[in-house]
Amino acid sequence: MSAGYERKRRVLRDVTFSVSAGENVALIGANGAGKSTTLFVCCGIIAPETGSVSFDSQTLDERARKSLWRRAGIVFQNPDDQLFMPTVAQDAAFGPEKLGLAPREAAVAAKEWLERLGIAGLSERNPARLSGGEKRLAALAGVLAMNPELIFFDEPCAFLDPKARRLLIAALRSVPTAKIIATHDFDLASRLCERTVLLSEGRVAADGLTPEVLGDAGLLESAGL
Ligand SMILES: Nc1ncnc2c1ncn2[C@@H]1O[C@H](COP(=O)(O)OP(=O)(O)OP(=O)(O)O)[C@@H](O)[C@H]1O
Ligand SMILES: [Mg+2]
Repeated sequence: MSAGYERKRRVLRDVTFSVSAGENVALIGANGAGKSTTLFVCCGIIAPETGSVSFDSQTLDERARKSLWRRAGIVFQNPDDQLFMPTVAQDAAFGPEKLGLAPREAAVAAKEWLERLGIAGLSERNPARLSGGEKRLAALAGVLAMNPELIFFDEPCAFLDPKARRLLIAALRSVPTAKIIATHDFDLASRLCERTVLLSEGRVAADGLTPEVLGDAGLLESAGL
């Protein structure tokens, strides 16, 4: 597919890749390469200009794009784009409740993830008044509590301290959900993702096993990394 934000200025050109159930794929590339845009197209926030996106063998038409949130979640680059309820616990329970869980069950799902991510102590806090790393983990809890089949992550470790980063990586390793992780963190990519897609100026410059892509210094340099 190709996609962009403004007429006549395509950000993504001929981007093609697929992800299997349960697979973890890192999406790397220089600043402005198109990682976040790729995630927005994949999760239905923006429509491709040409080509298409399919989920579970079904092309995402307008209607399917609007309901994809039920099966695929996204954790935004900036957690302020994600958190909006008065407390962390309510925020994390919002998604599961919208999916149809009873408020009690939604609260249990939210609590479980707040605990697993080590932030149960923040449950009653206002998300707007958390630190950057705390916000990131709160946003993650809300998405994980929805138990999606596929999760898109945009720089999941940004703002995290080493301990929070370790907790997050361990939590993500324990989730069998397929993941597409846009990141500059090659260590995270190596630990979590068997496969890596390299974007360069809106095109796929490489798609292969993570150690091979990350080990190819010439390839990374030609992609501006
Ligand atoms: N809302 C927008 N309107 C217009 N152009 C945009 C918008 N968001 C991003 N772009 C442009 O699209 C291109 C790709 O941006 P994108 O955010 O996808 O890059 P990225 O790979 O995620 O970069 P980073 O590593 O900095 O997060 C850039 O040239 C950027 O300037
Ligand atoms: Mg980005």
